[in-house]
Amino acid sequence: MCGIVAIVGRKPVAPLIVDALKRLEYRGYDSAGVATVEGEELGRRRAEGKLVNLEKRLQAEPLDGTIGIGHTRWATHGVPNETNAHPHFSDGVAVVHNGIIENFAELRSELVADGYAFASQTDTEVVAHLVSREIARGADPVTAAHKTLKRLQGAFALAIMFRGNDNLIVGARNGPPLAVGHGEGEMFLGSDAIALAPFTNSVTYLEDGDWAVVRRDEIAIFDIEGNPVERKRQQSLSTSFMVDKGNHRHFMEKEIHEQPEVISHTLAHYLDFGAGVSKPLDLPFDFAKLDRLSISACGTAYLSGVIGKYWFERLARLPVDIDIASEFRYREMPIVKNSAAFFVSQSGETADTLASLRYCRKAGVPIGAVVNVRESTIARESDVILPTLAGPEIGVASTKAFTCQLSVLASLAVRAGVARGTISPEREKVLVRELSEAPRYANQVLKLDQQIEKLARELSSYKHVLYLGRDTNYPLAMEGALKLKEISYIHAEGYAAGELKHGPIALIDENMPVIVIAPHDRIFEKTVSNMQEVAARGGKVILITDKKGAEQASLQTMETIVLPDMPEIITPIVYALPIQMLAYYTAVFMGTDVDQPRNLAKSVTVE
Ligand code: AGP
Repeated sequence: MCGIVAIVGRKPVAPLIVDALKRLEYRGYDSAGVATVEGEELGRRRAEGKLVNLEKRLQAEPLDGTIGIGHTRWATHGVPNETNAHPHFSDGVAVVHNGIIENFAELRSELVADGYAFASQTDTEVVAHLVSREIARGADPVTAAHKTLKRLQGAFALAIMFRGNDNLIVGARNGPPLAVGHGEGEMFLGSDAIALAPFTNSVTYLEDGDWAVVRRDEIAIFDIEGNPVERKRQQSLSTSFMVDKGNHRHFMEKEIHEQPEVISHTLAHYLDFGAGVSKPLDLPFDFAKLDRLSISACGTAYLSGVIGKYWFERLARLPVDIDIASEFRYREMPIVKNSAAFFVSQSGETADTLASLRYCRKAGVPIGAVVNVRESTIARESDVILPTLAGPEIGVASTKAFTCQLSVLASLAVRAGVARGTISPEREKVLVRELSEAPRYANQVLKLDQQIEKLARELSSYKHVLYLGRDTNYPLAMEGALKLKEISYIHAEGYAAGELKHGPIALIDENMPVIVIAPHDRIFEKTVSNMQEVAARGGKVILITDKKGAEQASLQTMETIVLPDMPEIITPIVYALPIQMLAYYTAVFMGTDVDQPRNLAKSVTVE
C-alpha cells in the first residue's frame, strides 16, 4: 500500500507533490520519490525512509517542471532503499505504482531477453520498460501505455509520464484506488481525495480496469479495451485541513484522547438518546427476516466484528459468521438465503476486505460497510454506508476507529433486536441509555494515564506478554496483544482465558506477564481461577477490572487497573482504552516510531 500523486500543472510541481505525499504517508513510508519533466529531460529525486528525507534532497537539489509524479512506498518487492524507490525510469518513461504486478517475473524475463537492464528489484520497473519498449517499436505514448496495461496482471494504480511531453500523464486503476482531481487549467491524480484536497475537491474516481489520459485542460477515461467510459464527477468531502497532533506527542495519543467525543458522535448517529430508541435505518435488508449475518474485516477491524458477533447473537438472536477477510475471500463460504454481510474497515481500502465484499456482492448478498472514509472504495461498492464518525485516523495503530466501530455494531445489534422482537421497548430504552454512558466512562478511564504509564515502563522490559479474556473480553485480549506488538514490537498473544490450561500455561513463568481483562460480570469467577493458575506458577498478573472485580479478585497481582463499575454492554468499548494506553506508553518507553511503526502502513491495499 503506497501512495501516488501526479500533477499536470501550471507552476513548479515538485513542492506540491511532496505536500500531497505528506497526506499519503500513512499509506507507506519506506522511501519516497518525485519525477518531473524538465525541458527535454526527466528529472528525479528519491530518498530512503520518511518523506522528510526526500524534502531535504529536493531542498539541496530542486526539481523544475510543471508536470510531475510522486510516490511514497511500502515495500512489496525489493528492500526499502533509494534504488527501489519510485518513480522508476526506462528510456524516457517514468512510472509510480501502488499494488503488485503479479506476473512481473515473466515480464521481467521477457524484457531481460530483449536486452533491458533492470536497476531495481521492484515489480514496478517492468511497467516502465514495457512502455518504453512499445514506444521504441513506434507506438505513441498513449498507445504504448494502453498496450502495456493489457499485459499486466495483479493490482495496480499507476501514473506514467513521458520525457519531452509536459502535457500528458496516463493514469490507470485495477484494484488500489486512484482519483482524478479537476483543477482550473491543471489536473491531478492521487491515491485518495485526501491527497488532492489542497488542489481541488472536484474528483472523479476511476473504476477497476479504467485508464485515463490526463492533460492540463482535459481528461479522457477508457476501459481496458480502449472504449471511452463516463465516470461521475463529484464533490469530495475531504478537507484540505491537514490534521495535526495538537499538543500531543503522537497522533495515536491524540486519537486515544479523542475517543469520548467521537464515540459520542458515532452513537448519536444511530441512537436517539432523548427518546431512548435506536434510529430507523434505510437498510437493503430487514433484520427481522435475516437468517444469518456475515461480518468480515482485517486486523483491529476484524476484532471489532468478533465483539459484534457476541452482541448480535446475544441481543438479537441473529447467528453471525465472522471471518478474517484474507481467509473469507478464498474459503468459498456457501451463501445462505436471507443473509446480509457487513464489512468493517477504517480506511475502506483494505484489499482483502474489498475482495470479500466483492465475493458477497457477486452472490447477491446485501452489503453494509462500517467505514470511517465515506468516499472509500468499500463504501462506494456497498449497498449502505454505516459510518464511524471517528474523523481522520492518522496513527497506524487503530484506536478511535476501533471504539467507533464497536459503537456502530452495538447500536446495530440493538436495532436488530428491536426489529426481531428480542428487545422490548423498555429494554431498548435501558440499552440506549447505557450506551449513551460510554463517552463519560471513557473520559474517566483516560484519567488513569499516570498509573498505566508507570505500568508500561515495567512492561517495556519484557520480551513476551500474554493477554487473557473471556466472552467479549477475549477479542479485546487479542486487540490488546495486537496493539502492543504492532507499536512496541514486543511479542504478545491474546487468548481465551479458558484456553490457558489447554497449552499456553506452559509459557507461564516470571518472564511472561499476563494481562487479564475482566470486568466483574457473570463469568468473573472463572477468570479469577485462571489468574490463580497463573499466579501459582510464578506468573505476574496484571488485572484490568472494575471496583467489584478488584475487591473479589483479592489476588497478589503485579498491578490492578481499576475502572469504574459500568453497564456490561459498554465494557468492550471502554475497556479498549486501557489496553490502547498500555500499548502506547510501552511503545514510547521502547522508543519506537509510534505513529508509523516499522514494516506497517495504515491502509493495506495489496493482498
Ligand atoms: C490496527 O491497529 C492495524 N493498523 C490494522 O490491523 C488495521 O486494523 C487493519 O489493517 C484493517 O485496516 P482497515 O480498518 O483500514 O480495513
